[in-house]
Amino acid sequence: MDKAISVENLSMAYRNKKEEIIAVDNISFTVNQGEVFSFLGPSGAGKTTTQRILTTLLPITDGMAHVAGYNVITDAKKVRKNIGYVGQLGGADPNATVRESLELSGKLYRQSKDVTAQRIDKLSKLLDFHELLSRFVRTLSGGQKRRVEIAQGILHEPKVLFLDEPTTGLDPQNRANLWKHIKTLRDNGMTIFLTTHYLEEADALSDRLIILDHGKIVAEGTPTELKKRVSGEAISIELKNSQDADKMKQFFHQLAIDNMIETDIGFTVYTPKGEELVADIFKYTKNNHIELVKLSLSIPSLNDVFLALTGKELRDGGKEDEQ
Ligand SMILES: Nc1ncnc2c1ncn2[C@@H]1O[C@H](COP(=O)(O)OP(=O)(O)OP(=O)(O)O)[C@@H](O)[C@H]1O
Ligand SMILES: [Mg+2]
Repeated sequence: MDKAISVENLSMAYRNKKEEIIAVDNISFTVNQGEVFSFLGPSGAGKTTTQRILTTLLPITDGMAHVAGYNVITDAKKVRKNIGYVGQLGGADPNATVRESLELSGKLYRQSKDVTAQRIDKLSKLLDFHELLSRFVRTLSGGQKRRVEIAQGILHEPKVLFLDEPTTGLDPQNRANLWKHIKTLRDNGMTIFLTTHYLEEADALSDRLIILDHGKIVAEGTPTELKKRVSGEAISIELKNSQDADKMKQFFHQLAIDNMIETDIGFTVYTPKGEELVADIFKYTKNNHIELVKLSLSIPSLNDVFLALTGKELRDGGKEDEQ
């Protein structure tokens, strides 16, 4: 088996009485063994749908997919043996203790009590919740609960772990802590496929990623490769009055800046001479009585990549739970 996951021309449509929703639209990609691979995309992009296909929980409308070397349709049982899946909503029973939750997972995987006990010991140390084993799940913090759920998902030592938005709802500190643990699992040889709508998460955690939008692949590569696609520095301005947009456009036009994206609230322009242009913008807006709400200069982030490729901010389509 050379690739942990391979997907060829995969499509998936949900059909109900009234309509057909194409959630995944002819995507192809591979995931190497032992890497953290991410799907970054806004709400409704098709991230969960793809993961549910690869974890054998949903059928394929068209195309083919292999996980751990097995066909997800014709060899679903073998696929399930080799994967762990921690879904978007989490699944630990609030009224069980942490140890009981893990023992139940062990039973579901048909492991002997001894093997389960050994792995609970090992994973609770690795994921840093050994002191919490006798606590009720309902008393855990969000970050602690996620770590227990991940342990449930990998108690049978799968080759490939699927995590659907593992850090949604966690505060930044807990999020960074979970990234560290996910990297530890990767360093121990596991392949990890996660979905996220957090740019920082995709950037910090992924060895490679795909930007997904409307069921289609928008871009693919390492975070560094993707950021290199957007040349120069990014200047974002937010206008107080949208009537000033035309004046700003004229100004950029005069300076022969064509690498510019207009958003609902202003502009993002890309230029090799960031600081110089910032000074010019200040001068021009002052002289022309244009009020700015915000002006920022930054080296391109994955948000700029998304913006450059789709013409919209990833945050617009994301969820309102950034903390
Ligand atoms: N059971 C379903 N029946 C009909 N349409 C569905 C169903 N589940 C998902 N969809 C639609 O398929 C598309 C992709 O949904 P999916 O859940 O895969 O997106 P996602 O990228 O995981 O989004 P989120 O970030 O909100 O979790 C959306 O348009 C969604 O409304
Ligand atoms: Mg989802």
